[in-house]
Amino acid sequence: MANIIDGKKISQAVKDEVKAKCAELASQGITATLAVILVGEDPASQVYVNNKKKACEYCGIRSLSYELPADTAEDALIELIEELNARSDVNGILVQLPLPDGINEDRVLDTISPDKDVDGFHPVNVGKLSIGKKGFVSCTPAGVIQLLKRSGIEISGKECVVIGRSNIVGKPMSMLLLKENGTVTVAHSRTANLKEVTKRADILVVAIGKPKFIDASYIKDGAVVIDVGIHRGEDGKLCGDVDFDSASQVASYITPVPGGVGPMTIAMLMYNCLSSVI
Ligand code: GUN
Repeated sequence: MANIIDGKKISQAVKDEVKAKCAELASQGITATLAVILVGEDPASQVYVNNKKKACEYCGIRSLSYELPADTAEDALIELIEELNARSDVNGILVQLPLPDGINEDRVLDTISPDKDVDGFHPVNVGKLSIGKKGFVSCTPAGVIQLLKRSGIEISGKECVVIGRSNIVGKPMSMLLLKENGTVTVAHSRTANLKEVTKRADILVVAIGKPKFIDASYIKDGAVVIDVGIHRGEDGKLCGDVDFDSASQVASYITPVPGGVGPMTIAMLMYNCLSSVI
């Protein structure tokens, strides 16, 4: 039976470190401010945004909330971002995704100043990551690295397989594992013989977007399995891209859903907000 990587506990530790540093900065008169923009009324996005604001409050980060109607014009959103870019009292800007149909997501994300892009989605930050320069890193993959490091799992020299090539998770994940000296393979929906590829992995990061898709038959004995997926099953319970009951029989370490990668995303957002002022 695999060791369970406790994302709740590790995310709490990260938030407590951020909180301590924020308190230290506050005594020097410095407070980080995050502007959070939500367009429309997607219920899942509302939950995420509320959790982000709560985490800010916990850490001692000021948050400004902009909740705009679903029919907001793209130009009005761009104008708001430009205003926030220009404000010296705003250090981070986050636009919750997905945006309503009709708003060009790329144009919106590209408008956020790279220096305030705490989500790490701006092409400048993505580019910096790919050439090993300092910049904001996408929160979910950054959280995965923290889960591995804080669980004492060595990345250097290991066969790392990432399933999924999204701009937010798969691609930055592969770059971060490479930066940690892993030998990285990115598999995706067109990969031939997926099982052959995943069976090579010492560290398998799954961001495939299909509930319980990866079972024990995809996993090498003793591999570390990180599940980035989150789905609501027919039984109403949350599950990941990995079939936990099956995979945990062969893995050495595994993240549960919920309570694995999920909480790390917000913790790393807090870390990025802190980085925006130091
Ligand atoms: N929607 C789903 N995940 C994210 C995220 O990490 N950041 C933002 N801005 N929107 C999201």
